[in-house]
Amino acid sequence: MAPAGPAATRPVTAKARPVKAKARPVTAKEGAVPVWDRFIRAFHWAVVSLVVLGFLDPRWHRLHRMGGVAVLLLVLARIGWGIGGPNRHGRFAAFVRTPRATLAYLRAIARGRAHRTLGHNPAGAAMILALIGTLLLITVSGLMLETNAYYGLGWVIVLHKAATSFLLVLVGLHVGGVVLASWQHRENLVRAMLSGHKSAQDPALAHPEGERRSPARAIRDLHAAVMGRSDSGDDRKPQPSPG
Ligand code: HEM
Ligand code: HEM
Repeated sequence: MAPAGPAATRPVTAKARPVKAKARPVTAKEGAVPVWDRFIRAFHWAVVSLVVLGFLDPRWHRLHRMGGVAVLLLVLARIGWGIGGPNRHGRFAAFVRTPRATLAYLRAIARGRAHRTLGHNPAGAAMILALIGTLLLITVSGLMLETNAYYGLGWVIVLHKAATSFLLVLVGLHVGGVVLASWQHRENLVRAMLSGHKSAQDPALAHPEGERRSPARAIRDLHAAVMGRSDSGDDRKPQPSPG
């Protein structure tokens, strides 16, 4: 029986022969490293819950305002954390990339060749900046509507509502991106945002072929699953373990 050692974690290139390792996902406990600190996790799930308050019936306006102001404070704190916080994966300098690198990463996603990152990936980073910017726009315009100078002003109301609709679009893409990245890299990013931990190894490499996981392939797999077929042209069958 061959030892299941470094071979299981070795990067697999297109030319390399399949690594003969057992096809099993790496569990969080194996080599798990802390990635998202308590503040970032609390920030994320608090913002998600508070944004929901913004969509309550207008009769709950007080709650709407309080929730919105809390979002603003959290976003400002997150910006501070991103500039000089103690979490190295949470710093903007660690994850913000140039537009060029972001586009290159998006192309790699489409080809199923995007590399896994321990912190935010370049596409996720761009989305995070967009989400934070939009949250700022919503909350600042909301606050403006509470002042004498801007109370009931048409363009501020339009800005507030339009930014809110835009946020919904971004959140749809954000959740879609999280699901796609989780699927491509075989790791549960939502669980990581809850526990704060990720595997130190690349879970995709725990699967022998290091195969491509493109969005088109995802759709084919889903179709095959719905149709109750196991054969979707899937070449990801586990290699028989040696010995
Ligand atoms: C109002 C809705 C949401 C907003 C405004 C939002 C915003 C954000 C922000 C700002 C981050 C960056 C976290 C940081 O570095 O501080 C983030 C990351 C993340 N969010 Fe959300 N989010 C929303 C909804 C969701 C939902 C519903 C899910 C679950 C499917 C989710 C899953 C995640 C995950 C897994 C990450 C980490 C992504 C990674 O590993 O790079 N988010 N989100
Ligand atoms: C993430 C935070 C927020 C979200 C998602 C949000 C969302 C919304 C939405 C969807 C509406 C339209 C409601 C409708 O037409 O029935 C609205 C209206 C309004 N929001 Fe917010 N809001 C947020 C934060 C705030 C804050 C912080 C304030 C003020 C402190 C505020 C003040 C207002 C006001 C005054 C209106 C009524 C505008 C009008 O006259 O039609 N909002 N908000």
